Amino acid sequence: MDANEVNKVAGAVLGMLTLAMGIGFFSGALVSPKPLVKAGYELPDNTGGDHGGGAGAAPAAAEKAEPIAKRMATADVAKGEASAKKCVSCHQFTKDGKNGTGPLLYGVLMRAKGAAPAFKYSAGLSGKGGNWDYAALDEFLANPKAYVAGTTMGFAGVARADERANIIAYLRTMADTPAPMPQ
Ligand code: HEC
Repeated sequence: MDANEVNKVAGAVLGMLTLAMGIGFFSGALVSPKPLVKAGYELPDNTGGDHGGGAGAAPAAAEKAEPIAKRMATADVAKGEASAKKCVSCHQFTKDGKNGTGPLLYGVLMRAKGAAPAFKYSAGLSGKGGNWDYAALDEFLANPKAYVAGTTMGFAGVARADERANIIAYLRTMADTPAPMPQ
């Protein structure tokens, strides 16, 4: 074999390799694997309990839930008090408490919206109207910014519907006379 023939053979081999790669690439494009549309199992929800998730956390995902009246029947005050640790950097709950970053929440259930004495509410909340009944609190706590446009409550919300009911059950006890349970 002279140098010329070696070059020819090398050229042929290279050509075949290039062709093989091309075919591989092309067929890969033809039978590209389908991406999984949905994970095969539900990921655990770690937004509940005492994991914090307070100010600045990602917006809470809405969750399909039973009506609040139904969830209240099984709500747990002690769990709600534990969950309310998420609120204590801004809110106080007891009768002798005072406004902080957020208004005093003693007696907030059924109270008029934006009515804590001497608290400077956002325009959105003071103009909202109505009382903090069970459904209103539930909706607000799920996603404060969606419920009150321009709210100054820097809190992402509580994604878990049962956890919101627990918190509301706790809020209910923080009053001179707890409001009647919802029907
Ligand atoms: C980072 C501070 C912060 C955190 C955390 C926070 N809040 Fe608030 N909250 C506020 C502020 C500020 C307002 C007033 C909002 C406005 O005027 O728009 C408010 C308003 C409210 C109101 C309306 C009260 C009224 O008098 O109308 C309720 C109810 C409430 N918060 C409940 C909660 C609960 C329950 C939690 C915990 C799960 C919580 N908040 C966590 C700051 C906070």
